[in-house]
Amino acid sequence: MNILLKQQPMSTIPRKVIFDTDPGVDDAMALFYALAHPDIDVVGITTTFGNVYVEQAVTNALYLCALAGRSMPVTQGVGKPITKVAEAPPEHIHGADGLGNLPHRIALQGQPDPRTSAQFIVDMARRYPGEITLVAVGPLGNLAAALQLAPELPTLVREVILMGGTVLESGNVSPVAEANIWNDPHAADAVFTAGWPLTMVGLDVTHQLILPLTLFQNIAQHHQHIATDTLYHAVQFYSAFYSQHDPVVAHINGCYGHDVLAFVVLTNPELFTLQAGRVRVATDGLAQGQTMMRRKDISYPQHGWHDDIPPTQVCMDVQADACKAVIEATLMRPWLQTPEKSPAK
Ligand code: BDR
Ligand code: CA
Repeated sequence: MNILLKQQPMSTIPRKVIFDTDPGVDDAMALFYALAHPDIDVVGITTTFGNVYVEQAVTNALYLCALAGRSMPVTQGVGKPITKVAEAPPEHIHGADGLGNLPHRIALQGQPDPRTSAQFIVDMARRYPGEITLVAVGPLGNLAAALQLAPELPTLVREVILMGGTVLESGNVSPVAEANIWNDPHAADAVFTAGWPLTMVGLDVTHQLILPLTLFQNIAQHHQHIATDTLYHAVQFYSAFYSQHDPVVAHINGCYGHDVLAFVVLTNPELFTLQAGRVRVATDGLAQGQTMMRRKDISYPQHGWHDDIPPTQVCMDVQADACKAVIEATLMRPWLQTPEKSPAK
C-alpha cells in the first residue's frame, strides 16, 4: 500500500522552520545542520523537557545559537507530560547538562523570549500562514499545547516533521516504544490525529544510519571553531553510550543521529522511502508509547482508524551512505560566525 520515494524538491526560498527540541546531543547536531543549510531558515527554537529538564533545554538552545554566532527567539515550553509522571532525564546518554558534560561554558549573549513555546508557534503560524514548517525532535507537548490554543493550527502550518516513533524496528525504551513518544504519549496521539501534513522520522530509518565519531572530529578540525569543538565533545560522550550499549553500534565508534534526519528528509527527500497510513499512539499499559500504523487498506471494526484526516507519511527506508554524506557536506560548509561574548560584569 502506498509506498513511495519522497520527492518534493526544495524551492530556492529557504523554508521557514520552527525547531521544537530538547537539546540533547543529537538535537545539537540537528540544530547545527539546520543553521548550516542554505535552504533552511530557522525562525525560532521552542524547547521542551526530555533529554534534559526544560530550563536546561532553554540554556542549551541559547548557548548553541550563541556559539554559532546566531541570534533568534528561544522559548521555554512544557516541563512535563500531559498525563503521566515525568521521568528523570537520561543523563547517561546526553550528560547531566545535555551536551556531554561540558567542562566549562563561555559567557555569551542571549535571553529567552518571554512567550511560551506553544504561544510562539501559534503567533508565528498566524503571522506566516502556510509558510511555517514545524520540525519537532522531542516529546510533543508544545505542539499539543499549541493545538489547544489554536485548533485551526493545522490549516496554518505548511508541514510538520517529527523525529519519533517506530513501526517495524524495535523501540529504544521498550520493545515497542521510542523515547520521544514514550515521554508524552497523549501529546503524541494529539499530534498524529490533528490532520496536518505530517511526516514521521522514526527508528525505522534512524537506526539504519550510524554516524562515526571521526565525522565530527573531521568537522571540528575543518572549522577550528568553538561551536564544532563543543559538538565534538558532546558527541564523544553520546557515542560512548551507544558504543557500549547498542550491539549494532558496538563495532563502530559512533552513534545514531536520530534528530538530524528530521532535517535531512526536508532538504533531501529523495533519500527516503515513505509509506502513508494512519498512526495512533498507545497511551496506557505495557505498550505505552507504541506508534501503531495502519499499513493495509482494511476496514477495521475498531474505533480510531477512520480516514477523515490525511495519513501520516512514515519514513520506512533511507539511503544511509548518501544521507551521511549530506550531513557531512552540510556541516563542512562555511556557516559559522564569531560568537558575541557577554559584557564583563
Ligand atoms: C530521540 O530521543 C532523544 O533521546 C533523542 O534526542 C531523539 O530525539 C531518539 O529516540
Ligand atoms: Ca531530541
